[in-house]
Amino acid sequence: MLPALRRDPLHAFMDAAVRFGDVAFFKIGSRRGYLITNPSDVRHVLQDNARNYRKSPLYQKLRASLGDGLLTSEGAFWLRQRRIAQPAFHRQRIETLAGVMADAAAETAAHWETLAAQRHPVEIGNEMMRLTRTVVLRSLLGGDLGPYAATIDAAWATINQQIAESFWSLGITDWLPTPRKRRFHAARAVLHGAVDHLIAERRRHESETPDLLSMLIAARDEETGESMTDLQIRVEVTTFLLAGQETTALALTWLWYLLSQHESPRRRLAEELDDVLRGRRPEYSDLANLPYTRMVIDETMRLYPPAWGFSRQALEDDRLGGYELPRGWLAFVIPYVLHRLPAYWEDAEQFEPDRFSPERSADRAKFVYVPFGAGPRQCIGNHFALIEMLLVVATLAQRFSLRLVPGHRVEPNALITLRPRFGMPMYIERRSGRT
Ligand code: HEM
Repeated sequence: MLPALRRDPLHAFMDAAVRFGDVAFFKIGSRRGYLITNPSDVRHVLQDNARNYRKSPLYQKLRASLGDGLLTSEGAFWLRQRRIAQPAFHRQRIETLAGVMADAAAETAAHWETLAAQRHPVEIGNEMMRLTRTVVLRSLLGGDLGPYAATIDAAWATINQQIAESFWSLGITDWLPTPRKRRFHAARAVLHGAVDHLIAERRRHESETPDLLSMLIAARDEETGESMTDLQIRVEVTTFLLAGQETTALALTWLWYLLSQHESPRRRLAEELDDVLRGRRPEYSDLANLPYTRMVIDETMRLYPPAWGFSRQALEDDRLGGYELPRGWLAFVIPYVLHRLPAYWEDAEQFEPDRFSPERSADRAKFVYVPFGAGPRQCIGNHFALIEMLLVVATLAQRFSLRLVPGHRVEPNALITLRPRFGMPMYIERRSGRT
């Protein structure tokens, strides 16, 4: 399957699921594994028997590039890091961060007034990336990137591209010093510089309210009393900076695209926002009254899950869907595929937010919709991301309507995250009252 996966992983996995059903055997170079698409098998691997699985060796590239942080570490070390970070993501804590999120969205809205007047196409992916990065920086890491702010976007794009392109490589050419690799190392230096700047600033000025960064710096090992090394703090900050901005920005980018293509959901969303907010800025307490906004977000992440696929490796022999899964084999969980299986989703390819209404969701298998993963390794930032997306959509869709540049080709590109292959240039237009 290696050539097919390198060429077009979304198609290769989708095709296997449709042709072979719940369990499809994959041979990838010297590795073997199953694509699993039955929700009960997904539940077994991610949750019920999660102890028998580790993140697959395919994450090795990510680990080698960014260091071993919460996203990639395992066992007792992972658990310790997760416990240190967890308080920063408690619901009540996130409630207090809603103001920071709404402020950042309002700043983007002010900037969009200017862009709308200019009538030039704008790369919406960049807009969303800047917005979500501002939110992570201000709410979790309490700072700005100083001299690195201007170069970080290009650096991350280079890193993402390089890791993704070498994802399925077998390591044969990994040591060759190619120009691409030199670009990668330069990009990584920018990222490290930015993160070290954040940590150094924090050590100089303690923050008034404890945030994720202060928790990482203050953490002490229960047994040894030792604090984290600067290197480990850097790895964790890098992990959060990247995991927290990229996925959320992509979900929002796909959301603007889908809305631009579907008039009726666009109108219903605008009506809900007009009725509930009446032109004012959204607050945390408004979010429970915006059910349609939430459905639009859920439906966007169904069709375009930013974390489109992940994988595990069995520590001991297991059985999946009646088949032996020998120790060392992989299990692929691919939200992009699960979210489009005709057996579980009516008109699976259609954008239809109403399918997430409480009535229509009532008897849906839980593990067939997993944009944030599931089980102990579920996304630590899922609630944070949902609140942020609700506030951003409520702020921006109230005032603006986005139109794709006519004729622009839109296609998902499955790198580590699911990006629009040719970008997402759009016109930002002011909404005049009810549309
Ligand atoms: C729409 C936005 C987001 C999506 C779709 C998303 C998706 C995911 C998924 C699928 C995983 C699990 C991967 C696996 O099991 O292999 C994950 C893990 C993680 N996410 Fe997110 N994420 C989002 C936002 C965020 C935010 C805002 C943060 C932090 C500010 C964050 C931080 C993390 C971390 C640290 C992990 C690793 C957790 C662990 O293994 O203990 N994510 N995310």
